[in-house]
Amino acid sequence: MRKITKAVIPAAGLGTRFLPATKAMPKEMLPIIDKPTIQYIVDEAIESGIEDLIIVTGKGKRAIEDHFDNAFELEYRLMDKEKLELLTEVQRSSSIDIHYIRQKEPNGLGHAIWCARRFIGDEPFAVLLGDDIVVSEEPCLKQLIQFYEQMNASIVGIQPVKESETHRYGIIDYTEQMGRLYRVNKFIEKPTKGTAPSNLAIMGRYILEPEVFDFLEQQEKGAGGEIQLTDAIQRMNEVRPVYAYNFHGTRYDVGEKLGFILTTIQFALQNDELRTPVLSGLKEILQEEKMLKIV
Ligand code: G1P
Repeated sequence: MRKITKAVIPAAGLGTRFLPATKAMPKEMLPIIDKPTIQYIVDEAIESGIEDLIIVTGKGKRAIEDHFDNAFELEYRLMDKEKLELLTEVQRSSSIDIHYIRQKEPNGLGHAIWCARRFIGDEPFAVLLGDDIVVSEEPCLKQLIQFYEQMNASIVGIQPVKESETHRYGIIDYTEQMGRLYRVNKFIEKPTKGTAPSNLAIMGRYILEPEVFDFLEQQEKGAGGEIQLTDAIQRMNEVRPVYAYNFHGTRYDVGEKLGFILTTIQFALQNDELRTPVLSGLKEILQEEKMLKIV
């Protein structure tokens, strides 16, 4: 059995849903409270035992590299002012080596992963998408790694979504369910409304065997005219089984405005310092809204 030590984090998307904020700043650097979303993802990878990380970037993404680099001047100032807690936080983000590669054309998620093929080589590897933050006792990726180690087969993280939302995700059609594990008949990327075979959606965490690159290599375009990772996984599934695992944990969608706002509120309510003032702020807002008969 091969150990999973490498992970790919695609971060080349244009972030159009958050324009104009993302005109000069990568969407992956938008913070939930005080931490950029991409750092939640990198932390999960590290806590799951990943040793080598590659981030696939694009134009205008330099702030990501700076964030995970040392910041001598800032660190010196924090040390000088004895702000040691902040210093530890700042140093934590530069504690692992991250590699970068650029996706030169915005050709979709499948193409972004394909860009990392030389870094991955002939090993099974992890993929983490930045739009999904997962909070769980055991890191989500670690749960998938444990299954890979038992089954020796590619595995994709899933969770149920509302029927009305299935068209936004990769959806599975399964033949067999063994507890939280599913034997997948078909992976379908963004099925048109009303055609989804289930409500089990791919949630941005994957353990893939390197053979997936043979299918990505064909560069066939799928949903939205883009090269889709889900399509390559489905083609691989036709020759070697790919499983799906309904992981434990709460998933937060930070890839669109409403999800981002709600995640910020929920994370603030879980924060010891912020919980009480945020609750009273929310109460005031709700009272005002009631007076205006809006809610
Ligand atoms: C991507 C994947 C999709 C998955 C989703 C999860 O879509 O292609 O299969 O369900 O992430 O967030 P995107 O949201 O990038 O369009």
